[in-house]
Amino acid sequence: MNQNENPFDIPRTLKEDILREALCIPWCRYPEPNPMTVREPLGRRLGLAPESILLSSGSNQLIGPVFRAILEPGDPLLICRPVFSLFRKTALMEGARVVEIPLTESFDYDAEALLRESAGAALTVLCCPNNPTGTVMDLFLLEKILKRTPGLVLWDEAYAEFWGQSAVSLIHRYSNLMILRTFSKALGLAGLRVGFLAAHPTIAKQIGKLLMPFDVNVFSLLAARRLLEVGSYIDLQTRKIVRSRNSLAEALKRIPGIRVVPSQANFILFRAARADALFEGLKKRSILIRPMNDYPGLSDYLRVTVGTDEENALFLEAVNTIQKDMP
Ligand SMILES: Cc1ncc(COP(=O)(O)O)c(C=O)c1O
Repeated sequence: MNQNENPFDIPRTLKEDILREALCIPWCRYPEPNPMTVREPLGRRLGLAPESILLSSGSNQLIGPVFRAILEPGDPLLICRPVFSLFRKTALMEGARVVEIPLTESFDYDAEALLRESAGAALTVLCCPNNPTGTVMDLFLLEKILKRTPGLVLWDEAYAEFWGQSAVSLIHRYSNLMILRTFSKALGLAGLRVGFLAAHPTIAKQIGKLLMPFDVNVFSLLAARRLLEVGSYIDLQTRKIVRSRNSLAEALKRIPGIRVVPSQANFILFRAARADALFEGLKKRSILIRPMNDYPGLSDYLRVTVGTDEENALFLEAVNTIQKDMP
């Protein structure tokens, strides 16, 4: 329960369908260079032209090329803090000057600071729902930023399905907006590595020039296409994870010594009086969640990914017991 994955594997019948189809395609050939078999149905699902979509082997793989396409060394890149650590790391590797805006005490976005600082940023990176907090930004604020900034905005919505909102339709109105999405979370394909960037076709074309050819393999393309054909199954499963998240958060809140950050993602950030001891106690019971020691100011916090009903029950029972026995 430490990687924010979907706890439900692809149904066996669907896996067998995919495997049967995989047996009929030649593995000696390279995959499609501009995989229309996935970009077209994905575009239809999102209301975008395929030319607006760049596929890659996981959305992580797109962060570097996006930064490289936009930033010159020393250019200001704006991020909030805390946020998915790969943004800062990649920005530093690309030689950007990282400007960080702390989230408020309740882990909300600081609208005033964001509007002020994005006015001087070459690239503003926003994550919504935000990893590791699960908090979100009003899309009206995003629009204000898009209107005011002279630069581009990268909006990572890896967990959008669990929020039920998305900025994708704004691509039609703002050519400085780029959106990162993934098949790893709600779509449950983390192991096959498929992610994508959605943006105005001109921007997508420029960033596409920096991607390695044949980035997504034939098998992953096939699985991604089949998954898009069973959209209603995905939607049902997402609703189940959202219900589980809400009941897990309610149950955690009732445990003395725990403070829960309201989440719109498939994970929950919570504060525990003795986070280290709780983490270790859970680990001893073979329950792995995410310590937050690497995030400045979050060492009292832990992050747990919503699991299956059984995993959630075991986790809650263990937290209850460990907290009760804590000296
Ligand atoms: C905010 C955010 N973006 C991107 C990713 C990575 O997604 P992918 O598996 O598509 O590389 C993660 C994974 O945890 C994430 O939390």
